Amino acid sequence: MHPGASASRSNSAILRHLDQMIKNRGIAMSLKAAAAAVRENAHAPYSNFKVGAAVRSASGQIYVGCNVENVAYPEGTCAEAGAIASMVAAGEKNLAEVYVIADCPTPITPCGGCRQKIKEFASGDVKVIMATTDGEEQETTIGALLPGAFDADHMERS
Ligand code: THU
Repeated sequence: MHPGASASRSNSAILRHLDQMIKNRGIAMSLKAAAAAVRENAHAPYSNFKVGAAVRSASGQIYVGCNVENVAYPEGTCAEAGAIASMVAAGEKNLAEVYVIADCPTPITPCGGCRQKIKEFASGDVKVIMATTDGEEQETTIGALLPGAFDADHMERS
């Protein structure tokens, strides 16, 4: 079996599982629970650093993603990229909230590339919650994480 073929739960299976947990317990599905659950599926044999991301779209739907590394290192993708791709594939283009979690000493912050990817689908005031698996959380906005972001206005003369 090649490394990518190990059994893992799909996006919809994770959400179904979480949905069932919510029905059983009568609690609202949290971005945190979704991000922590999908993190378990990360494919990170090279860095051993698993990341989970969950985004809530404007419709209220949750989309999840984990990092997927590759033996050709630059081909790896971040958790945030996966969650955003899942949202766009489902036909949605507006982010309302982002949650990222990893096992680190201080809450993980989205890398530069992911900040730009989030900004593509978010206004500056969209909340980004960064977390550790120990339960520490830090809340900010994408505007604060990526001040002076490059956007379509910069291409006005082209
Ligand atoms: N990683 C993410 O998934 N999101 C981030 O915002 C930072 C980094 C992943 C990429 C790589 O698989 C591992 O963490 C170590 O850099």
